Amino acid sequence: MELRIAAKTDADAIIAFDHIAASDPARVQFIHNQIKSGACYIAMIDANVVAYAVLNYKFYDNGWIEMLYVHPRFRCQGIGSALIRHLMNECRTPKLFTSTNQSNVPMQRLLATLGFDRSGFIENLDEGDPEWVYFKRLRDHAT
Ligand SMILES: CC(C)(COP(=O)(O)OP(=O)(O)OC[C@H]1O[C@@H](n2cnc3c(N)ncnc32)[C@H](O)[C@@H]1OP(=O)(O)O)[C@@H](O)C(=O)NCCC(=O)NCCS
Repeated sequence: MELRIAAKTDADAIIAFDHIAASDPARVQFIHNQIKSGACYIAMIDANVVAYAVLNYKFYDNGWIEMLYVHPRFRCQGIGSALIRHLMNECRTPKLFTSTNQSNVPMQRLLATLGFDRSGFIENLDEGDPEWVYFKRLRDHAT
């Protein structure tokens, strides 16, 4: 598996497997914007894009994984975990945050497996499905 920053030419492949992009132009725009700003990372197997993730610093200036999405046919093979581990190495701040819905058990288990701790929750985003914020300390001080 190859993990690298996405290039403009990877956008169509990402959009093809992200089921939200199929019906939501805002998601397509999000993908283009994140690629343009160098925040989008991809996992590739046999020259095919099989997952993408977005790492930016919008969360109170801390590392923030805004997105992780694995191609449905490639789930439960360790690809999501590998991409998050890669972002843990790439992150420029000592603290890394992300969030997911309470209903998203796969993502919560993945984060627990990688040593992320819960850091509170936000209500009133998705009705009846709180958003849990997760946190991982990568190192003691900024280097
Ligand atoms: C959540 C998601 C990213 C997981 O990616 P993945 O590549 O399938 O995850 P991995 O194979 O690395 O799994 C790592 C751990 O996560 C947990 N996990 C993953 N899929 C799971 C599932 N369907 N049910 C329960 N636990 C699951 C397990 O603990 C697993 O460890 P194990 O293999 O030792 O049991 C993937 O299901 C996905 O893309 N979902 C849609 C988008 C999404 O919800 N993104 C996250 C919120 S932004």
